Amino acid sequence: MAGRTASDNLRVGLIGAGMIAGAHSGCYRKMDGVTVAAVWDADRARAQKIAAAHNAAVCASREELLKACDVVDICLPTPFHLENIRAAAAAKKPVISEKPLGRSLEDCDAAIEACAKAKVPLLVGHVLRFFPEYSALRDIILSGRIGDPAVIHLRRVVCSPGGPGTWYWNYEASGGCVFDTAIHDLDWLLWTLGRPVSVYGLGHRDPANTRDYALITIQFPGGAIAHLQSSWAHDGFSTSFEAAGSEGLVEYDMEDAVPLKVAKIGGDAGGGGKVVPESPLAKSPYQLELEHFMDVIRGKAKPIITPAEARASVELALACLDAVAGKKVVTLSKGKAAPKAKAKAKKKVKLGAEHPE
Ligand SMILES: NC(=O)c1ccc[n+]([C@@H]2O[C@H](COP(=O)([O-])OP(=O)(O)OC[C@H]3O[C@@H](n4cnc5c(N)ncnc54)[C@H](O)[C@@H]3O)[C@@H](O)[C@H]2O)c1
Repeated sequence: MAGRTASDNLRVGLIGAGMIAGAHSGCYRKMDGVTVAAVWDADRARAQKIAAAHNAAVCASREELLKACDVVDICLPTPFHLENIRAAAAAKKPVISEKPLGRSLEDCDAAIEACAKAKVPLLVGHVLRFFPEYSALRDIILSGRIGDPAVIHLRRVVCSPGGPGTWYWNYEASGGCVFDTAIHDLDWLLWTLGRPVSVYGLGHRDPANTRDYALITIQFPGGAIAHLQSSWAHDGFSTSFEAAGSEGLVEYDMEDAVPLKVAKIGGDAGGGGKVVPESPLAKSPYQLELEHFMDVIRGKAKPIITPAEARASVELALACLDAVAGKKVVTLSKGKAAPKAKAKAKKKVKLGAEHPE
């Protein structure tokens, strides 16, 4: 930021005080050079709860919040991201927004345009990039240790978030398990293998919107296939992956690798009742992500995730929803070629053993 030195304190304005805001709030409390200065939420009691942990102002409006902060962190239901990104950009505040960037490509484009026009960073919370297991899997694939990637299975199964009457159970708003939750894995796939050629999917939603489940198959240029299992029909939270290449296999299961498992409904701050894993790492991936975003805002780092990449994950998630709804193959327009694996070596790699942290 112009005129700001690296040692300056950044004042964060939190828009939204639900589940994920609670996770961000916990991270900010551990970070140097960053304070939560203001909180605004349509539910004042929630804003008060988070504000109390930081001695921050509880704002009556977004305008009041924008006057009291240097950086805006948007933790609202996805359909409200755009209007708040626009307001923050108009106030010339760097923007952190939770994923997905928007509920539609039009929303994404408008958000990107607003931030580009205002010349403020737009940093979207695709936190999987900060999970050591997932960045290690990417490194292993790109280094060529398992040869050319052939079949990748990614599993992300959680309990149905929110509850009756919440925005999560309004699938028009949340997009259900594929758009809201599998988008983490879709972003990882785009980051690792580049733009796919086509997607196919089948899914099931129960009539009362209490459960959502989908199986997605994704074809990449060069022949690699990814298979995603996405669920809002399980208990708790569980993820795993397996990547088979021409020269080996790499696998990871959160159940094996994480000795400490605490999944709290709604996290520590209350909110919408979504379960996210707590991390035994010294720094949670959410903290690593937010620290990185602050480094970008201070001009000390280049963003690991760009707005265009956040848009691409929305585009792919929409294609998956389309495929599931129509039980059909959806072809994506041509994009950038996939990154190439470097070398080859016959090997089976078990991530939990290599990365005990
Ligand atoms: N990165 C991750 O791992 C992760 C995990 C969970 C959620 N998310 C994303 O974070 C966002 C928020 O999810 P959540 O679980 O915190 O939801 P939530 O329902 O727990 O919280 C949303 C909060 O926004 C408030 N709110 C709703 N509409 C508002 C409006 N128009 N103006 C002001 N306040 C309003 C609600 O009162 C509530 O406190 C979503 O985009 C979701 O996809 C990301």
